[in-house]
Amino acid sequence: MAIMTTTSPAAFLPVLEQIAEEISRTPGRGRPADYIPALAACDPRSFGMALAEPDGTVYGVGEWRQPFSAQSVTKVFTLALDLAREGDELWEHVGREPSGNPFNSLVQLEYENGIPRNPFINAGALVVTDRLQTRTGDAAGELLAFLRAESGNPGLDFDREVAASETAHGARNAALAHFMTSYGNIDNDVPVLLDQYFRQCSIAASCADLALASGFLARHGIRADGSRLLSRSQAKQVNAVMLTCGTYDAAGDFAYRVGLPGKSGVGGGIIAVVPGRCTLCVWSPGLDERGNSVAGVAALDRFTTLTGLSVF
Ligand code: DON
Repeated sequence: MAIMTTTSPAAFLPVLEQIAEEISRTPGRGRPADYIPALAACDPRSFGMALAEPDGTVYGVGEWRQPFSAQSVTKVFTLALDLAREGDELWEHVGREPSGNPFNSLVQLEYENGIPRNPFINAGALVVTDRLQTRTGDAAGELLAFLRAESGNPGLDFDREVAASETAHGARNAALAHFMTSYGNIDNDVPVLLDQYFRQCSIAASCADLALASGFLARHGIRADGSRLLSRSQAKQVNAVMLTCGTYDAAGDFAYRVGLPGKSGVGGGIIAVVPGRCTLCVWSPGLDERGNSVAGVAALDRFTTLTGLSVF
C-alpha cells in the first residue's frame, strides 16, 4: 500500500470516515470503567476520532466534539510541563521503563525503593504531579491553563463530580502516595497531592481538544503559539515513553498494532502522535481488561494500516 503524503486540508477525512463506518459495524466494544458512576454511565457505543495538523487544523468523525473524562491521558501533559521546568532531574525520581503491571499496581514500588517504573502508571504520575505542584503551587491549574491554551478552548474545565468520586474511591492512590512518602519521593502532603491529581484526572475534554493539545509532540516541542515548551530531544523522549509505557501492560500490543506513541485513559480516550506529521485522539468508553479503549485501539490500528503513518 502506498504511504499517504498529501498535505491538502482534511486530507485524512475520508480515512477517518471509513474507520468510523467500520467501527460502527463492530460488535463487542468492551465495558466502560465502573469504579465511579460518571464513567459507568457512559455508552460503550459512543465513538469519536479527531486529527490535528501541526498548523492547528482539526477535523474528525463521530462524537469528536463531545467532552469526555480525560483521566490518564492528562499524564502526558503534566509530564511535559514538569520536564520543561526541571529537566533530567525528574528521572532521578521516576523511571522510564515499561512496568508490565496494571496501571494502579503497588507491587514493584517496594522492590524498587519507592521509585515508580515510569510516569504513566499511577505511582509515577503522582510523583510528576507532586513535583509540578512543588514548582507551581497549583499543578492542576497549570495543566488546565495549558490545555485551554493549546486547544484554543477556554471552556475546558475540571468535572467536580468526577473529582469528588475519584476522591471517594481513592484508597489505592492514597496508598501509593503514602508509600512513596515513606521513601522520601513525595514532597507535598498526601491530601494536597491527591486533590491535585484527582482534579487533573477529572478534566473533561473532547477528541478535538486533546488532539490539538498534543500538537507540541508532533511539532518537536513547539506550542501552538510558536513558543518552545520542550527541547527537540525532550519531545522525542516523551514520545518514546508514550510508545513504551503509555498503554501500561498492553504497551507491547499497542506498539504491535498501532505503531505510534500513545496514551490512554479509563474514560476511553487515547491520544497518538505521528511525529512531524499530526496528532490523533480517539474516544470510545468501552475498555478491555487492561483499561484501554477497545474501539479506540482498533481505530488507531486501522488508521496506521490505511495510511502507512506509523513510526515503523
Ligand atoms: O488514578 C486513577 O485511578 C484514575 N483516576 C485514572 C486512571 C487512568 O485513567 C488509568 N488509565 N488507563
